Amino acid sequence: MKQLQDKIMQDGKVLSDQVLKVDSFLNHQIDPPLMKAVGEEFAERFKESGITKVLSIESSGIAPAMMTGLVLGVPAIFARKRKSLTMSNHLYTADVHSFTKNETNEISVSKDFLKKGDKVLILDDFLANGQAVLGLLDIVEQAEAELVGVAIVIEKGFQPGGAMIREKGIRVESLAILESLADGKVKFKEEGPSL
Ligand code: G4P
Repeated sequence: MKQLQDKIMQDGKVLSDQVLKVDSFLNHQIDPPLMKAVGEEFAERFKESGITKVLSIESSGIAPAMMTGLVLGVPAIFARKRKSLTMSNHLYTADVHSFTKNETNEISVSKDFLKKGDKVLILDDFLANGQAVLGLLDIVEQAEAELVGVAIVIEKGFQPGGAMIREKGIRVESLAILESLADGKVKFKEEGPSL
């Protein structure tokens, strides 16, 4: 998606050959027109899939998930990393290990919002090692819902998550795929296969 790639080139900061900082438009401050365009793009790519729910994870997945839900006309749900005061035990839970942070979080989604018969699009801001997506997949399976695909704003193509999820036969649509962050420069992989 050209608008996103341009924004990454303009405002993204390469912190190391592993990490891209995008907190001026995605991870901290949010650029609403860009998020709207992201939502429109995902909605267009998945318009034939009959999606009934967009499922993401707090916190940075929420903005693009909400815009995608808005355009598709369906709710957006985000898995919580910490249980809220009002959450009961009526939950689907999964463990998500972050290699980057070396910690494991239990994520949870209320059983009220994801059900058998739902057609679910999993959506997240970054795809790196793929652990967050695996946790969300686990929750979709527990709900006996149907997965239609995985939507990612920025995929780090040099980390294993994308290949691991595609190897399961899952459709993955990433709006920008980073081929490398070497020498302080962002290099994009040109449009890759979606499967
Ligand atoms: P994984 O889920 O694909 O296995 O990712 P990993 O454990 O490597 O990443 C943990 C956190 O770091 C995730 O955010 C992920 O989005 C983020 N992350 C990974 N690589 C990058 C990067 O190059 N740049 C930025 N900006 N973030 C990266 P999180 O802890 O869940 O944070 P948030 O959603 O609350 O913002």
